[in-house]
Amino acid sequence: MFAVIEGIDGSGKTTILEALKGDPFFASWEFLREPTDGPFGKKIREIISQSDRVYSRQTRNELTDLFIQDRIWDNENNIMPLIKKKKNILSDRYYISTAAYQGMDRKEVLKILVEQMENPLILNPDFIFFLNIDVATSLDRIRKRNTQKEIFEKKDSLLRIFNNYLIIEDYFSTSDDFQITDMPQWITIDARNPVNKILEEIAENLRKKSDRKNP
Ligand code: TYD
Repeated sequence: MFAVIEGIDGSGKTTILEALKGDPFFASWEFLREPTDGPFGKKIREIISQSDRVYSRQTRNELTDLFIQDRIWDNENNIMPLIKKKKNILSDRYYISTAAYQGMDRKEVLKILVEQMENPLILNPDFIFFLNIDVATSLDRIRKRNTQKEIFEKKDSLLRIFNNYLIIEDYFSTSDDFQITDMPQWITIDARNPVNKILEEIAENLRKKSDRKNP
């Protein structure tokens, strides 16, 4: 099984992932993250750590390409080898992030999304867990963290990115006429809930699917 976890900065993703890693249900799972620690991932981190950098069209296009190259690298070096070993994988971010973060309008968001879903070098996950939180709460959390800001951790960017996640959520809920055969299942999680409730909700969905696969 291949699941991914998504959400805007400050959605509590890191806290949830730490809790999942310590949970017995996930003891045999492999945890991955994007951007990766590979060559493209390193280049990406260099760019996004400059919070005062102007997020120009050129930077954005450069980043979109780098994130996709990093994802293909991740598939070749991490995901596919683990799938071959029949491992379960949970990835911290995947192609939804590129659509939500790098897309500037609905058309572009869906273009970036669908192109990756149709790319044979990029495996479609079974599950996408979206940690849904309002922008005001996430900004509050980012401010409290008081660490170095990344280019996306500003109110305007967060609003655009959050809205893009909602566009994608809507797309998945109305996608019956899809051409894609291995369509991932989208699950929205209310990220204001306590960590143990979120954890239980994620595990419950994965358990249901494993039961169906191995009756
Ligand atoms: P990271 O420090 O890993 O943040 P987080 O813990 O929030 O995931 O940096 C990842 C940042 O890169 C985050 O702000 C989201 C952004 N990002 C994109 O813009 N596009 C992408 O395709 C991915 C995977 C991440």
